[in-house]
Amino acid sequence: MAVEMHAGLASDGGSKLKMLLTFVDSLPDGSEDGIYYALDLGVTSCKVSRVELGGEKCRIINHIVEQQLIPQELMYSTRKDLFDFIALTLKQFIEREDNCIKQLPDERKELGFTFSFPVRQSSISSGILVKWTKGFAIDDTVGKDVSQCLEEAMSKNGLNVQVAALVNDTVATLALSHYYDEDTIAAVVIGTGTNACYIERTDAIIKCQGLLTNSGHMVVNMEWGNFWSSHLPRTSYDIALDDESPNKNDQGFEKMISGMYLGEIARKVLHRIAEVSDIFGEFSHNLSVPFTLRTSLMAVMHDDDSPDLRKVERILEESLQMPSVSLKARMLIIRVCDIVTRRAARLAAAGIAGILKKIGRDGSGGETSGRMKYKPRRTVIAIEGGLYTNYKLFRDYINEALTEILGEEAAQNVVLRASEDESGIGAALLAARYSSIR
Ligand code: GLC
Repeated sequence: MAVEMHAGLASDGGSKLKMLLTFVDSLPDGSEDGIYYALDLGVTSCKVSRVELGGEKCRIINHIVEQQLIPQELMYSTRKDLFDFIALTLKQFIEREDNCIKQLPDERKELGFTFSFPVRQSSISSGILVKWTKGFAIDDTVGKDVSQCLEEAMSKNGLNVQVAALVNDTVATLALSHYYDEDTIAAVVIGTGTNACYIERTDAIIKCQGLLTNSGHMVVNMEWGNFWSSHLPRTSYDIALDDESPNKNDQGFEKMISGMYLGEIARKVLHRIAEVSDIFGEFSHNLSVPFTLRTSLMAVMHDDDSPDLRKVERILEESLQMPSVSLKARMLIIRVCDIVTRRAARLAAAGIAGILKKIGRDGSGGETSGRMKYKPRRTVIAIEGGLYTNYKLFRDYINEALTEILGEEAAQNVVLRASEDESGIGAALLAARYSSIR
């Protein structure tokens, strides 16, 4: 991972890791104030929020969030359909809020736009979509400036809103965690997809020599979901999953780690077992249907600590139409969930260790200079996403692997900080930081 990070920073296309510039060169520190809006386009829902910031003394005065489910067909629709939908969602939210709060309707609003796909940015507030991930496939948007798409759709809907900051979800997570804890140097998202960003020295970003920032640092969006290495062994299940996906040969790391895929890998293994044995009885038909075993269900089964595995039994019956599966077979299912999840968590931990190594915080003495002794520093990594926050065993396995890789002593300085799902605040904080009306 550390080697690929170097290569991705050296030139565009130098690695499968895109190492995208975010133009975030200073992170929120508590001084931000004013009213800002945030919009987060997720895979299943679009979240809009209004955040009132009160500066050093009051910090976050108020935060209102609303969530709107995204109709699935939008994922394969057109640019116009997608952005009209988002703009309308935002408009309805703002109108409701304006009515409650009696804000002047025409006042221009500043927005933090969380757009969690690979975007090549040209400034803090603009950037073009490189490709879709996580099952989205809206061809006419690739290569387009996504802030411009949104602003156009908003002005068509009579909204006076400006994108002040266009950010990846990892960057919003980093901003929020840094707001509370200034030792935060990286953020990892492990949800439907997976990715990480971290604070890099500008002189290490060789592909943009002479890049000037106020701080000498910039947050880099790694897009680590696309990481690949010949050192990573792939099973026949991984290969089949990739072959059947709409983005074959892409997002290889993501396909082994994230919530969109873990349940499906486990389903493929169980399906194979059902083909070669009769351990699940005759009723294993649903196992042959792709994506029937959702990762959230897999987590519930895996975390089932009742002696007779009642939760597993219920999920098998209700969601997979597999009644009367014996206790022995239920234990086998748990074992499969365990192997798939443990591998994912260990890969994510290895990725985190790679970032720490790259920036000399892995405890190997990378920061030693001259006769100065290496001095350990507290290092915080924010982690967000359902897999980490809702899946206890996944969390345990990440912690276990990180300690194994770094060693007990170095691991003591590394804090994995679970970030609540409040990326809206992170994006609003960045909008405040970079707003033109500040
Ligand atoms: C996918 C996206 C990336 C995002 C991640 C987590 O990997 O490409 O931009 O950060 O999912 O949502």
